[in-house]
Amino acid sequence: MSNLFIFIPQIKTMKFIQIQEAMKKGSGKVAIRGWVYRERKSNQFIFLIIRDSSNIIQTVIKKEKVNEKIWVSAEKILIESSVEIEGTIKEDNRAPTGYEIEVDDLKVIHYSEPFPINKDQSTEFLADNRHLWLRSRKMIAIMKIRSTVFGAIHEYFRSNNFYEYQSPMFQSVQCEGGSTLFPVPYFGNKGVFLAQTWQLYAEPAIFALEKIYTMAPSFRAEKSKTSRHLTEYWHAEMEVAWANFEDIIDHGEALIKHVVKKVLENNQGELKILERDPKKLEPTVKKKFQRITYDEALKLLEKQGVKIPWGKDLRTVEEDKLSDLFDTPVAVINYPKKVKAFYMKEDDKNPKVVHGVDFIAPEHYGELIGGSERESDEKKIIQRLKEEGENIDEYKFYLDTRKYGSVPHGGFGMGVERLLSWICGLDNIKDSIPFPRTPLRFRP
Ligand code: 4AD
Ligand code: MG
Repeated sequence: MSNLFIFIPQIKTMKFIQIQEAMKKGSGKVAIRGWVYRERKSNQFIFLIIRDSSNIIQTVIKKEKVNEKIWVSAEKILIESSVEIEGTIKEDNRAPTGYEIEVDDLKVIHYSEPFPINKDQSTEFLADNRHLWLRSRKMIAIMKIRSTVFGAIHEYFRSNNFYEYQSPMFQSVQCEGGSTLFPVPYFGNKGVFLAQTWQLYAEPAIFALEKIYTMAPSFRAEKSKTSRHLTEYWHAEMEVAWANFEDIIDHGEALIKHVVKKVLENNQGELKILERDPKKLEPTVKKKFQRITYDEALKLLEKQGVKIPWGKDLRTVEEDKLSDLFDTPVAVINYPKKVKAFYMKEDDKNPKVVHGVDFIAPEHYGELIGGSERESDEKKIIQRLKEEGENIDEYKFYLDTRKYGSVPHGGFGMGVERLLSWICGLDNIKDSIPFPRTPLRFRP
């Protein structure tokens, strides 16, 4: 037994924690891992700012304190190299996030090549390098808020006893006008398109599930280049049986309120990084939204010096003018029938208008939600589809919803990126989604 040597290798016992957690700890030994966000080198010190998904932190390598191997490896480090670090953390108000780690041990997991993104690069360059730009503090903050928003939408619907339901992305009908349809080659068949909305495939399902929702991509061949349109966007949609127009508007308001409340609860840090004033969002949680008719909207616009003839749709300019008057989203209802989709319910008292609603965001962020009570009269739907030049045969499945136990119902769709753009105060909707798709941008 005396000759038995027990070899105990140097086991790394420290558990990696996230930067945010390390800062919460505030003192003592910590082990973190992440990517080099900034680096500054001198003869005696190397400062590395390390980034992980939780935050950034300054670390310092002192030549006199570490062994030569560590110093030499640190000297070769470029931005975005991946590293593991062990050291002692302490408060330091000169450091960017108020703490600094003095490094005892450093392991470079991968030496990055020179990172193509540095300061002051054009939007085009950043878009071409979107896969790398996702690592920016701006995009990280937006993507975290996006995650809160998605979670909050599911939470809202599920806590209100909605079933999550899925509709096809390949569809044989239009719902929001033929001009924005994306045709897809489908084994030689014509008339197959990417989904503009789930709606015509959702209405049949309310007879089974009554209250349903989804979050899925929608596709619109919007040719115009605007700061609010994507060709692929995420669409939060709901459809409810036995619902009247007011029920639909109530859900729209409650959904927006819930989502904004969740962001204010969870993402103050991210809003700060984005330099977004949370005060701009607070009225939405606290105040009841105004509901105005299209006619009232025209009057308000006229007072603002914008006169449009009755029957014309509100364009971006008019929506923006209107949004100047409110610090919460405003619900505009009862639009002229001729500017709205074929499925919207005609008003009993005034057949020139339909029970459609648009929620217009404050601060010029445009339409967040479009919804309506659905027309129950099959003949009226057929009439309007014919006016749009549609082949009624394609809509047979949809028209069946009005044949077998039809009930009052309605629903809406919310553009998730529209909502996010407003919440985050973005200049362009493109930044609200990791890989934006627009007429000119489909790669990477
Ligand atoms: O108003 P829209 O066209 O309504 C519908 O699609 C209905 N079928 C929804 C329903 O009732 N189930 O679109 C709904 C929302 C708009 O209010 C807007 O926020 C967003 O979708 N949206 C877009 N977002 C980004 N890029 C685009 N090109 C968008 N087009 C519409
Ligand atoms: Mg709309």
